[in-house]
Order: sequence, then structure tokens, then C-alpha cells
Amino acid sequence: MCGIVGAIGERNVTGILITGLKRLEYRGYDSAGLAVVAEGLLHRVRRAGKVAGLEMAADEAATQGTLGIAHTRWATHGKPTETNAHPHMSGDDLAVVHNGIIENYQSLREQLIADGYRFTSETDTEVIVHLLHQALAAGRDLLQAVSEVVPKLHGAYALGVVSADEPDRLIAVRSGSPLVVGLGIGENYIASDQLALLPVTTRFIFLQEGDVAEVRRDGVQIIDAKGVAVERKVHEFDGTHEDVEKGEYRHFMLKEIFEQPAALQRTLEGRINGPESLAHLLGERTELLQRVRNVQIIACGTSYHAGMVARYWLEDLAGVSCQVEVASEFRYRQHVVPENTLLVTISQSGETADTLAALRGATSAHYIGRLAVCNVDSSSLVRESEMALLTRAGPEIGVASTKAFTTQLAALLLLVLATARAHGVRDELLADILTDMRQLPSLTEQALRLDGAIHELSKDFVEKHHTLFLGRGTQYPVAMEGALKLKEISYIHAEAYPAGELKHGPLALVDKDMPVVAVAPNDELLEKLKSNLQEVRARGGELYLFADHHAELSDADGFTVLTMPKVPEYLAPIIYTIPLQLLSYHVAVMRGTDVDQPRNLAKSVTVE
Ligand code: G6P
Repeated sequence: MCGIVGAIGERNVTGILITGLKRLEYRGYDSAGLAVVAEGLLHRVRRAGKVAGLEMAADEAATQGTLGIAHTRWATHGKPTETNAHPHMSGDDLAVVHNGIIENYQSLREQLIADGYRFTSETDTEVIVHLLHQALAAGRDLLQAVSEVVPKLHGAYALGVVSADEPDRLIAVRSGSPLVVGLGIGENYIASDQLALLPVTTRFIFLQEGDVAEVRRDGVQIIDAKGVAVERKVHEFDGTHEDVEKGEYRHFMLKEIFEQPAALQRTLEGRINGPESLAHLLGERTELLQRVRNVQIIACGTSYHAGMVARYWLEDLAGVSCQVEVASEFRYRQHVVPENTLLVTISQSGETADTLAALRGATSAHYIGRLAVCNVDSSSLVRESEMALLTRAGPEIGVASTKAFTTQLAALLLLVLATARAHGVRDELLADILTDMRQLPSLTEQALRLDGAIHELSKDFVEKHHTLFLGRGTQYPVAMEGALKLKEISYIHAEAYPAGELKHGPLALVDKDMPVVAVAPNDELLEKLKSNLQEVRARGGELYLFADHHAELSDADGFTVLTMPKVPEYLAPIIYTIPLQLLSYHVAVMRGTDVDQPRNLAKSVTVE
């Protein structure tokens, strides 16, 4: 999704802007641009395509300035061309970068055209800069103009604004899309994500909804949604720089796959010291779990798949009913909310527009609490929920989510165990599962050792156009996640089915050109799954199986079997995800796709 970077200092800030944009590349984008102010003039450079192209163009033009804004654009209104790229300008002096969507841009555009403004792009953003120009022409200063225009804009957005006539301030607005202010020494910055600014600062202010910030070289003033000057807390970034570097790995995705043992270790730290530790999982609020009679889970993408696994666990282990729904559907329909429902949102970023909107819309008095299972402590989702369970995966840069998913599963299993305990499930059973959970990092390491074998296997998929993933029980959402990974990064069409549904449709597609991947841990559904696999085999389908020794499946049965470590039942969804991640990674690399930034996709989907 779009990324914003801005800076104001005594030195040339072009390098800070470009570096910041590069660090936001993971969000997904298709064009980039920047505008800097130097000696009373505004210089703008934009390019379709990657930030590297923008950097070359900025170098060639020797673009320099002590105040500037920059942007990566993920096209919504209008194609990913140079003329649609941000910053957008009105006249020669005023420039705006924008993340999000202006829903009423059409009527504003018509009015501005009637007022004599000429539009040079197809974007919704351009209305903002002309409206600001109009307010400035009527005698306002930059801050007044922004405050006057913001109420006219409907939708969710974040803005960065600079004017060559006012070289001593950068104005930033947060209204529905995330924006942080970074604090330096004699210079200050803005960005849509703190990761963009880590090379220059570790001190951040997270703007809140409706905040307008006036960022100067020597200070920052924030005005809240009511127009009152406010002080916001300064946060110190608590990660390490290495987390956001690729290190020895060819791609962030591969690095993040291999980080999973350590990430899971962090998720579990201090939370699995026997059943008593479950009583503190949500701090003082853990007691509330006793009153929970129903759980509503809301999420998008990979996080939704984590929610689907949690539903099996919750009903099975805690005996609490549970529904799971994708946020974009949930937010637009009426629901019957049973009494004593706990609302659980799951999100890696905590900034996904649909998930946030669903949370904000869940106002029924029957919700007794709203819990965010999230990877980013400072995110909107965490701030706007009464309770949070942090997944502690560390920054995830690859668009295709990997360690965020497995850590979500581990955190959700803990939540289920805490709920089960609150509902009187025996401590012995819970203690056994917690003991099993201690093995998670080492079992993950064992699964990662299959990397070489999966690399070999991947060759069979490279030329294929379609793949089917099968699973039963908790392995059905795992199959869905496997299919999502493959289509996201290799662009091979992949679908997942609960294996029992095979004969109700997808079996018609099975032939030698349609590889079928099945996740088959040795659980009670295995025998049924074996029959499903025979159905595939009988139609000449190529079958690839991830199963342990005890499943007693072998290549001799006409399958290609990848032998997994023996895994306790409740950990199987976490461990069986690993080979599917590796499979999609290797297939994508062999097909030569852009693994970390697949086409058309964004890491953080901050627009509807
Ligand atoms: C995008 C990302 C996915 C992610 C989904 C939900 O589609 O590409 O990897 O699963 O958003 O994001 P969230 O941050 O809410 O988990």
C-alpha cells in the first residue's frame, strides 16, 4: 500500500527520503516520487516502477533540499503512471503526498474544475492539493489551509504537505491511515511506518485519528481532531536494526521463514510456565474469559486462516462456540451477537483498513470485550482494543506472511488454553499441551531441515498452472494458507479444499497436470484423508503428501511423500505450515517472480 516519508532538516534530506521509501518497498507499490524545497523553489521527481528508478532520476537531476516529502504509490484511482505518481502539485509551490482514499473526490473535482483548476492526473489525491491552493490563495497560511480542507475530505487518509513559500514547516495529517512523526536532533520526519525512519531515529510519536502535526526543524506541534494543541507520548523503538535487513538471505521471505524458531520462542516466553501462567495471559483482564460464552473472530488474508484454525481449537478444547469471518464481509452486514461474546481481531500489522473498520463497527452491548491478536504494539488495532495479545514475531517485511502466521497460531493456542482453563478444563490436560508447546521452536527447526528436499520437489510445480491443496480439520485452513502462499508469490492458481469436499466438484479437475498437495498429520482424520487421496490417485493425479512416519504412507503407494517430524496434535497446524511456505518460496524463485513484493499486492492494506 502507499507509503509516505517526509523530512525537514538543516542538511539535504533527499537521501533520507529515498532510503525511507526503500524501507517501505515491502508494503507494495507501483510508482514513486518526491518533492524537495530548496532556496524558495519546489523540485519534484516522479517515476513509474521501482524506487531505484526514482533514485537514479533524482541523482541525475541533482535533486537537493532541506525540506521534502516522498511517496510510493499503490494504484487505486488511475493507472500506475508517472503522471499519477505522487507528490501532486498545485501551481509551482505546493505539493502533497497522500495515503488512503478520498471517497468524495468526484464532487470536489467537479467543483474545482468549475473554479478553474486544471487536473493533470486521474487520482483522488489531486483534489487535496488544489483545495489547499484555493485556501492559500484566500489568505490562509499552510497550517490554517490544511485545517480548513481536512473537514471537506471524506474517507481514510494520511497526508504530507509542503510549500516552497513556507520552507520551515512540514504539515502532516492522520485521518484513518497510519502516520508517525520521527524525532531527530535539529531535524524531524514523518512516515507511514516507523521502519522507514530507523536509519535516522528511534524516537517516535504515533499520531492519533484526526491529528494535524506541524513538523519543524526544532520541534513538533500537534493539534487534535477538536483543534486543541496536545502533547503526545514519545515512544522509543524497541526492535533491532538487523530485523529489517536481509542479512545472508536472498529474500526477506526466506529470512522470515527461517526466523520462525526464534519468533515462536519469543511468542511463548513467560507464557508457558504451567497452567497458572495462563491466568495472566491478558493481564488483569484474563478473568473476563470466565464470562465468555461465544467468540467472534475477524481478520483478513493469512490472519483469517489463523482465526480458522483457532476456531477448531476453541470449540474442541474450551467448548466455547466460535465464528470466524473475513473483516470485509463482517463490517457490511447485520449480525446476531450472542450474549457474552468476545470479539477477537487478528492482524499482523494492526492497520488493515477492513479489520479496523470491523472493530470500530462492533458496538453491540453483547460484546464483553475486544481483543487484538497483533504483531505491532503501537498499531491502531492495539490502541483501539481494550485488550491485546502480542505475537512478538518481529518486523515482517515479505508481503507473503510467514512468521506472523505461525506466531499468531501459537498466541491463539495460548488464548484457547487460557479460555479452557477459565471454563474449568483440567489443569493436567492444559499442562500437557503447554509442555508440548515448549517443543515448538525445535520442531520448527526440524521441519526447516526439509528445505533441500522441498527445493527438489518444487521443480515439479514450476511449469504447472493450477494446484489443489487438501486438508481436513485444522489442516484445512493450513491447506488454505498453503494455497494462498503459492498463488501470491508464484502466480500459479491454487485452491484449497477440505478433503471431504473433493468429490463434490474439484475431483473433476484432477489429472496429471493438476498436482495435489495434501497435509496429512497422523491424527484421527487420517484414515478418511487416505480414502480421499485414493480418489485422486485413481484419476491419475500427482499427489504430494506431507505426513509423518506413523501415517504409514509411502512413495510405494504412488504418492510423493515428504516425511515430517512426529508432532503433537495441537501443534500440527503450526509445523505443517512450514513446508508449504518453503514450497511456495522455491517455486516462486524458480519462476523468477518478485518474491518479497509480488505484483499487485501490498503488505499493509490500509485502504478498503
Ligand atoms: C495483506 C497481506 C497479507 C495479510 C493481509 C492481512 O493482504 O499481503 O499477508 O495476511 O493483508 O494483514 P494483517 O496485517 O491484518 O494481518
